[in-house]
Amino acid sequence: MPEPLDPVAFTLELIASRHSVSPKKLVEPGPTEAQLRQMVAAAACAPDHRELAPWRLLRIAPAQRARLAELFEAALHERDPDADATARADARAKADRAPTLLLAVVRLAPAHDDVVDTERYVTLGAGLMNLLLAAHAMGFGAMLTSGRALRSAAFARAAGLAADERPVCFVSIGTATAARRRPRASVDDLLADWAPRAGG
Ligand SMILES: Cc1cc2nc3c(=O)[nH]c(=O)nc-3n(C[C@H](O)[C@H](O)[C@H](O)COP(=O)(O)O)c2cc1C
Repeated sequence: MPEPLDPVAFTLELIASRHSVSPKKLVEPGPTEAQLRQMVAAAACAPDHRELAPWRLLRIAPAQRARLAELFEAALHERDPDADATARADARAKADRAPTLLLAVVRLAPAHDDVVDTERYVTLGAGLMNLLLAAHAMGFGAMLTSGRALRSAAFARAAGLAADERPVCFVSIGTATAARRRPRASVDDLLADWAPRAGG
């Protein structure tokens, strides 16, 4: 009989073994609809002050990648009207990577006295972490990427976001063709004893 899995050791190993996989290294098959929904259900378990659910994930279908490529090229033109053909082709190519591509969007309205914008970004980030872990547990590679197009108001409008929404990053998911585990920050650098200053 195999030893039953220690849930603590299993969970910590799952977290420690997760690593990002560049969208360039993500190929078919991507997650099925049911698997993607499980990942999003995991994301929905993130801490959420006052249960505002201040985010959503927009799925960019394969048939919509050409439109996304146009928006990337337009955003490049906005910040660099002299961009050459190579730069324009590079910008367009970013739309055509990974079988599953999601745009993660944070919602900053309605205002709530108890919940500042930072908390909404934390909720989205925690949700994305759950999603990445769920994808990893299912055997998929995934990565969060941003890019300068996401800073363009014209991009956000053309992408169909509401005035109170901000694009935060893309989520690429697929089958990994390469693995690269990165070194992690040291716990000693991350954890410190609080040292408040004396006096007022
Ligand atoms: C919101 C967000 C956006 C990111 N955008 C990029 C990006 O555009 N390009 C990139 O190389 N890494 C980006 N990263 C970092 C990678 O997603 C990844 O975290 C990093 O490469 C470390 O890899 P790891 O997840 O294996 O530790 C981003 C991370 C976050 C949280």
